[in-house]
Amino acid sequence: MSFEASVLTLYPDMFPGTLGQALAGKALKSGAWSLDITQIRDFATDRHRSVDDTPAGGGAGMVLRPDILARAIDHVSPADDDRPRLLMSPRGKPLTQEMVRNLATGPGAVIVCGRFEGVDERVIGARQLTEVSIGDYVLSGGEVAAQVLLDAIVRLLPGVMGNAVSGQTESFETGLLEHPHYTRPSEWEGRTVPDVLTSGNHAKIEAWRREQAEHLTRERRPDLWQARARKKPPSHG
Ligand code: ADE
Repeated sequence: MSFEASVLTLYPDMFPGTLGQALAGKALKSGAWSLDITQIRDFATDRHRSVDDTPAGGGAGMVLRPDILARAIDHVSPADDDRPRLLMSPRGKPLTQEMVRNLATGPGAVIVCGRFEGVDERVIGARQLTEVSIGDYVLSGGEVAAQVLLDAIVRLLPGVMGNAVSGQTESFETGLLEHPHYTRPSEWEGRTVPDVLTSGNHAKIEAWRREQAEHLTRERRPDLWQARARKKPPSHG
């Protein structure tokens, strides 16, 4: 069974978007994963097909109604669906490579794209939606975030990534940022490729790459560096 993604959105034309191109697009065409898109508005019941209403207690913005969203979710993901149900939201748990890896080994995901000020809290509880954030900034809606999440998942699906080794040495899989990369020409605008990389000495190259990765991680991501130090106590002797 391939990974089954279902996306619920008020902007279905935003899909497949980036997911229809390059690696994810090829994987979609080859059947490594599937994507179905549902227009939440199709589950509205009034003449105007309205999906939102003013916030209880007052305040700015509009809130997505629980009854309409629940009908859309129940249509796509009945009670016995074993896929996790996610709600893209800046309030969510920050997305990590570990979460991506876990999702990629599962049957798929049902992804609700939030819009407006938010989603009525009751539907989040009643339909077990796990809120996921792609970072500490606010997008105009969850659609781009859903594409980010699915892109990260799809590249890990079996048979999708051509060069499996690159997946194991890249940033976040090792807890280190990736070392710098170089290719031809060996000199460009007066800048040269580091000698070690053309030395042919693989042990030396490995050591250099590791040093660079550690240096970059310490400089740019002290949080990752600290987390690594806590996980892996320094070896003695
Ligand atoms: N919707 C709006 N902002 C978001 C974010 N940072 N992550 C996920 N979904 C969002």
